[in-house]
Amino acid sequence: MSQTLKAVRGTRDLLPPETDLWNRIEATARQVFARYNFGEIRTPIFEDTSLFARSVGEETDIVSKEMYSWEDRARAQSEKAQSLTLRPENTAGVVRAYIEHKLGERGQLQKLYYIGPQFRRERPQKGRYRQFWQIGAEVIGPPSSGSESPLRDAEVLEMLATLLDELGITGWTLELNSIGSAADRAHYNETLRAALAPLAPKMCTDCQRRAVTNPLRVLDCKVPEDQPVIATLPVIADSLSEDAKAHFAAVLAALDAAQVPYKLNHRLVRGLDYYTRTTFEFTHGGLGAQNALLGGGRYDGLSEALGGPKAPGIGFAMGLDRLVLTLQAAAQSSPLEKADAYIAPLGENLNAAALTLARELRRAGLRVELGDGSFRLKKSFEFAERAARRIVILGDDELESGNLTVKDFASGVQTKVPRKELVARLRS
Ligand code: HAM
Repeated sequence: MSQTLKAVRGTRDLLPPETDLWNRIEATARQVFARYNFGEIRTPIFEDTSLFARSVGEETDIVSKEMYSWEDRARAQSEKAQSLTLRPENTAGVVRAYIEHKLGERGQLQKLYYIGPQFRRERPQKGRYRQFWQIGAEVIGPPSSGSESPLRDAEVLEMLATLLDELGITGWTLELNSIGSAADRAHYNETLRAALAPLAPKMCTDCQRRAVTNPLRVLDCKVPEDQPVIATLPVIADSLSEDAKAHFAAVLAALDAAQVPYKLNHRLVRGLDYYTRTTFEFTHGGLGAQNALLGGGRYDGLSEALGGPKAPGIGFAMGLDRLVLTLQAAAQSSPLEKADAYIAPLGENLNAAALTLARELRRAGLRVELGDGSFRLKKSFEFAERAARRIVILGDDELESGNLTVKDFASGVQTKVPRKELVARLRS
């Protein structure tokens, strides 16, 4: 016997009514982005593998072990196969598009948002999937467009606070840090490397490797036994240049003025290599181990690292799967949205008339479920009560007289309604 096929581990089907919640979140995000004057960008789901290696970083968990990559054989035999990768995140693609389409030459700041699936081969658990969805945004432009200003950081963070509030997510914490300029990071990396040299042999194998190749990544380590060692390491705040310190102080001052609450976290270095200066995460206690609702930060050197012009930027991405989990936990069970009416034709000869009536009501903007004349009345009532707020019965008498029988399930009241008044009645 053939085996039943199932969705691949770490991927899932999203079904109604849950998809209503997904759509509501996306619609709210689009409205908020519009108010802050962002436009939508859609980049391809797969890109050249080197894009991620050069931006996210070879040494990161994402690039070193979590990407879905393959050799593309579609090219002519004579050509070298191209290594392609399902995007594990969207910032790299946006910056590639920024460079490719010379968006910097448009003069003003580019404010771009995206909503779409991302792919990482992580161990699946609650809130962590191999195909997951992100809602993200990037603010990027030449320095002359003001892209480096601390006001941009504060505005993005204030927008996020507003978006989470409008989504009805309460109890979030904004964790904030500055990891300085590329030079500050290089200096801190050396400080860490020296501090780690005697300590690394007692740490996990990943940390032993990172202590040499990319010491900053040691701070991301989640192994419990390594945490006391990590707590003794020098903090990045002591390696920041005066410039980076002043930039961060200005971000904090603007947040204070806008009354956006935050918590400083010196260990927040983020798991991607392109970050500079401000880095942040919004966490939520209700999510368990995978508590990051969203993460982001500045990437002032990314465009140049990808061969583009100088284009400082800042952005974030929020896990849509995790937003949904948070809202579902808050609402316990969200009530099923019911249709305005269920049309029950009494006999198959009335199916065509029922379809005509449904068409009329739907064109008037009502949400309508259409039954079938082969159903007995009892069965129609059972289906109708589950799917809709009211049942509209269409029999030969009703068709002739033009008066339809309507029963309201909440009140239990059944009345005859003239066809002309039906739309208004069903809307009430
Ligand atoms: P990230 O921290 O890797 O940053 O991901 C952002 C968010 O995506 C996380 O906070 C989490 O909510 C969600 N997420 C990540 N991995 C998974 C997963 N396996 N399953 C479910 N949700 C997940 C970035 O991706 C950066 N591109 C953000 C950014 C934009 N920085 C600057 N601009």
